[in-house]
Amino acid sequence: MGKTIIISNRLPIQLQIHNGGITAIPSVGGLATGMKSVHSGGDSLWIGWSGLTDEEIPENLVGDIDDALSKHGSSKVNLSQQEVDGFYYGFSNRTVWPLFHYFLEYSEFEIESWETYKKVNQKFADAIVAKADDDDTIWVHDYQLMLVPQMVREKLPNISIGFFLHIPFPSFEIFRTLPWRKEVLEGLLGSDLIGFHTYDYERHFLSSVRRILGLDVSFNDIYLEDRIIKVDSFPMGIDYKKFSDAALEHQQRSKAEQSELQQRLNNHKESAPDAKFILSIDRLDYTKGIAKRLNAFEYFLTKYPQYKEKVRLIILAVPSRSNVPQYQLLKREVDELVGRINGEFSTVSWTPIWYFYRSMPFENLIDLYTSSDIAWLTPIRDGMNLVAKEYVATRTDKTGVLILSEMAGAANEMNESLLINPNNFEQIADTIHQAIQMPKEEQQERNDVLQKRLERYNVERWANDFMSSLTDQKENSRSYVSR
Ligand code: ADP
Ligand code: G6P
Repeated sequence: MGKTIIISNRLPIQLQIHNGGITAIPSVGGLATGMKSVHSGGDSLWIGWSGLTDEEIPENLVGDIDDALSKHGSSKVNLSQQEVDGFYYGFSNRTVWPLFHYFLEYSEFEIESWETYKKVNQKFADAIVAKADDDDTIWVHDYQLMLVPQMVREKLPNISIGFFLHIPFPSFEIFRTLPWRKEVLEGLLGSDLIGFHTYDYERHFLSSVRRILGLDVSFNDIYLEDRIIKVDSFPMGIDYKKFSDAALEHQQRSKAEQSELQQRLNNHKESAPDAKFILSIDRLDYTKGIAKRLNAFEYFLTKYPQYKEKVRLIILAVPSRSNVPQYQLLKREVDELVGRINGEFSTVSWTPIWYFYRSMPFENLIDLYTSSDIAWLTPIRDGMNLVAKEYVATRTDKTGVLILSEMAGAANEMNESLLINPNNFEQIADTIHQAIQMPKEEQQERNDVLQKRLERYNVERWANDFMSSLTDQKENSRSYVSR
């Protein structure tokens, strides 16, 4: 059995140049946080982009960069500014990301960025081929690298290749609008196993394969002349123990050991003991429904004025893809909404919204999760949403209410939370009211079931299920060929 090569655009860390030296910061996002736990436990090599363009790297730091990455079991693919613009800001995040999240009107179809996407995918494929042995297993991640499986297959025809998509796969009617739909499907079909978070995404993918490529699909197997490709759903979990242990450890801290943020949260709780904190954490992304959430919060305060001075919404938004115009517009919109709502409702002793626009260290995420009575996540579309799972995992006494959009992949496995339609303000306002009023016993009953499920289907189990399915598939495919 050879090694596993993980390949994704983002590595588990991002490098930055600071005061003439290299600093590494943890990457944010479901793919990086989830796979980090898998990678740290095993014999794997992770190939990806360091976060710095060729132009940004001074020659004297090249060695330091390679050292910093190899400490994290990682190796980099070099990208120029022009490549990052076309591949990352361009085709990945102005074409595929909006299209696959059903934001058709945001999707741009530009031939130059498609060409750069192909070129950069080839670079990633070449980086794999340079490091891979025939008995290795290649695990390719996400929408930035959909052509890589076929590009690797061409050079290493017998190697095991798995692909996992961390975002939704849209319905055929949406996917068919992509000018390069055929090439994208053919790229993915270089894999032996293709995984999605939910059965719906899997079904949409198979429908596109059947209707666009006219291939023979039986149940969830795709038959090629010389191979069978399996398509399946693997809902991604979290590192449950890491979050629940961190929350337990957090509770045992003395006042002096607490972070500044925690002390601030405590002061507010002490000054208004029956006040409630509602938390939302996301990357600042239009798919997360942050602007809608703010409007819905305003509606809630108008419909239920008894909660004025009693409820505070904490919004933690991490900066993301800020070179893409839609993200810049969203930033402005959110700033304005927060300002307007705070201006309208604030009193001398109360500001309804606390808004943080930054990445936070893990310890502060735990402060927020454990201090919040309610987590409220309203994606308009989301492949999975790990934040929902992380919140539940940190509720050591099982209190706390999760309000979750039914449009998140996570909603399929989290029926015991309060599910909402992010477009239905009436329902949202009533659900926040219900969450605030929910008896402690009911909160505990719901979270008990959720926690048991999250503990069982954790990220390790997800990775093991994917890998063992890939091994089985390779065997099936071999016996199919030798028949
Ligand atoms: P996405 O992958 O679309 O960003 P997920 O909810 O699946 O959404 O994953 C987000 C991940 O990023 C979570 O693991 C969460 O803990 C982490 N994260 C989100 N916001 C922040 C933040 N401000 N600071 C640090 N980590 C964050
Ligand atoms: C989502 C995507 C990941 C991506 C992450 C952060 O989770 O599925 O592929 O890494 O968002 O986005 P970024 O563009 O910063 O990598």
